[in-house]
Amino acid sequence: MSFTLLSSPLQGFTDFRFRNAVDKFFGGIDAYYAPYIRLPGQPEIKNSYRRDLLPENNRVGHLIPQVMTNCAEEFLFVAGYVQELGYKELNWNLGCPYSMVAKRGLGSGLLKHKEKIDDLLTRVSGESDITISLKMRLGYENSHEILDLLPLLEKHKIKSIVIHPRLGKQLYKGEVDLEQFQRCIDQTSHQICYNGDIDSVIKFRELRHRFPTIKCWALGRGVIANPFLAKMIQMDNDHLPDDWTDQFSRFHDTLFQYYEEALSGPGHILLKMQSFWEYFSRLFSNPHKAYKNIKKAKNIKAYYEAVGVNIAGERI
Ligand SMILES: Cc1cc2nc3c(=O)[nH]c(=O)nc-3n(C[C@H](O)[C@H](O)[C@H](O)COP(=O)(O)O)c2cc1C
Repeated sequence: MSFTLLSSPLQGFTDFRFRNAVDKFFGGIDAYYAPYIRLPGQPEIKNSYRRDLLPENNRVGHLIPQVMTNCAEEFLFVAGYVQELGYKELNWNLGCPYSMVAKRGLGSGLLKHKEKIDDLLTRVSGESDITISLKMRLGYENSHEILDLLPLLEKHKIKSIVIHPRLGKQLYKGEVDLEQFQRCIDQTSHQICYNGDIDSVIKFRELRHRFPTIKCWALGRGVIANPFLAKMIQMDNDHLPDDWTDQFSRFHDTLFQYYEEALSGPGHILLKMQSFWEYFSRLFSNPHKAYKNIKKAKNIKAYYEAVGVNIAGERI
């Protein structure tokens, strides 16, 4: 059985530069979701979102924009904008867990307002021909929220629903709830994609075995922590390539160069690259030490020395 691998977005990490670098060096991902667009209370797309979606900036084969809103006008405005750029699909974020967002009835905070979701989908599909897909958690407070919502979604035309089976209030803590995920599969005729904690080929195999009807899998943090992961899953091979340090070095240097061209001043570049190492370090035999080396660096020269030390440590 064939399957589709999606890159699940991380705001602040998986921008077009990261996506381009991952796709160039590793591949294995069939489609990338862009991090969400949020409007500032008026119909206006911020420059950083514009840059992230401009076709000339994006070298990946298939990119899907995402919006986070609870307002049909905003959804339609963003749909029109992304259609002008040539995109055919807009993904609706019903998963963001942060309490500031959820309290405002956005992201996972919207899941319990099922009529609002129903109304928005009715209005949007009446006024736009954009393909709609959804990304959601099980709920904010409890997983009745998704189980109550799914029957209402049956009448809507939705391409797929990516489910990250945690509650919003859990943030990223605790386990994913695979039993509730199964209940979601049983409650809907829509195509469901699984997302959450896939960080190895072994984990992927286990999940695929447990959910044989799922054909679509979304990888988030796992791809940043191990950019080889999607390709390894596609090849059903749980070993990194022998020359992984060389490949990782080339990828790293390219990513660095992309941010060097874009960001003003060494301080910003350093912070940006250090934030990636919270994830990259997990590829190394001693993640804690690898991350600590990088965090200590106070300038670019020291940073590059630390990267060299981390990589050399793996070559011995
Ligand atoms: C820092 C951060 C930013 C995120 N930004 C987004 C986002 O913009 N849109 C979205 O749908 N999910 C976002 N997510 C959630 C991830 O896409 C994904 O659903 C979640 O991390 C679980 O999958 P994983 O265990 O494979 O990472 C974000 C997660 C993190 C940690």
